[in-house]
Amino acid sequence: MPAELHDATAGQTAASSQAAQQDDAQQVDAKQAEKAEVQAYFESTGFERWNRIYSDSEEVNKVQRNIRIGHQKTVDEVLAWLQEQGNLPQRSFCDAGCGVGSLSLPLAQLGAGSVAASDLSAAMVAEAERRARSAGIAAEQLSFTASDLESLQGRYDTVICLDVFIHYPQAAAEEMVGHLAGMAEHHLLVSFAPYTPLLALLKGIGQLFPGPSKTTRAYQLRENGIVAAAEAAGFKPVRRSLNQAPFYFSRLIAFERV
Ligand SMILES: C[S@@+](CC[C@H](N)C(=O)[O-])C[C@H]1O[C@@H](n2cnc3c(N)ncnc32)[C@H](O)[C@@H]1O
Repeated sequence: MPAELHDATAGQTAASSQAAQQDDAQQVDAKQAEKAEVQAYFESTGFERWNRIYSDSEEVNKVQRNIRIGHQKTVDEVLAWLQEQGNLPQRSFCDAGCGVGSLSLPLAQLGAGSVAASDLSAAMVAEAERRARSAGIAAEQLSFTASDLESLQGRYDTVICLDVFIHYPQAAAEEMVGHLAGMAEHHLLVSFAPYTPLLALLKGIGQLFPGPSKTTRAYQLRENGIVAAAEAAGFKPVRRSLNQAPFYFSRLIAFERV
């Protein structure tokens, strides 16, 4: 290759790798900015809203009441599956993105050996902890940490992540399934808003599904991608359910290590 052409090609390669690095940096910045937005929401108006939905408060509108009913179906299903698997006192659980403890508290009350619950929002965690202590559940059995999913570490018999992936676009959610699977010795349970063309259309015309927030983006996920990510991490799906109520639509999948 003539020296000038070689120089020009090398120059182009350097420029395109610099552009790719800039793109990567921009994507990381955008991801961090979106997470900060979600966190700010769940520390303030989102906390007020979801604390009411995940309670027996009468101060909820019709949509919020339906979300409460749908979400309770997901929680009840998880508790039923875990009880069927049995051996709860010998098992350790991670409730990733625990909210106000809608799953962690009853799980501890059913006799789970230990539950490590965490959430991005310190307000959510504080409320979950308040509820746990006022229910008489000891910190040795149910502990709380303010943490995003990305920073979680450790190894648990079972890792559970319910209705958090609504804040993750497809690729990030799949990456997160891999991360959570790496923390799970035997079981991984996740629930998320599944992608369907009708729901995409409803969302498109502004009837935001499933109403977690009017201020953060809500992502519907393709189930095949979630299953493929779990399979790539050494898990197979063993149970599925679809839990619904008006304004709530959530696919729950239980995976088991192969
Ligand atoms: C719809 S609530 C579900 C809470 C709980 N899993 C449940 O089912 O009751 C979503 C929760 O995800 C949390 N969350 C959102 N993004 C998160 C992240 N990146 N890491 C950890 N928690 C996150 C929010 O703070 C909020 O408490």
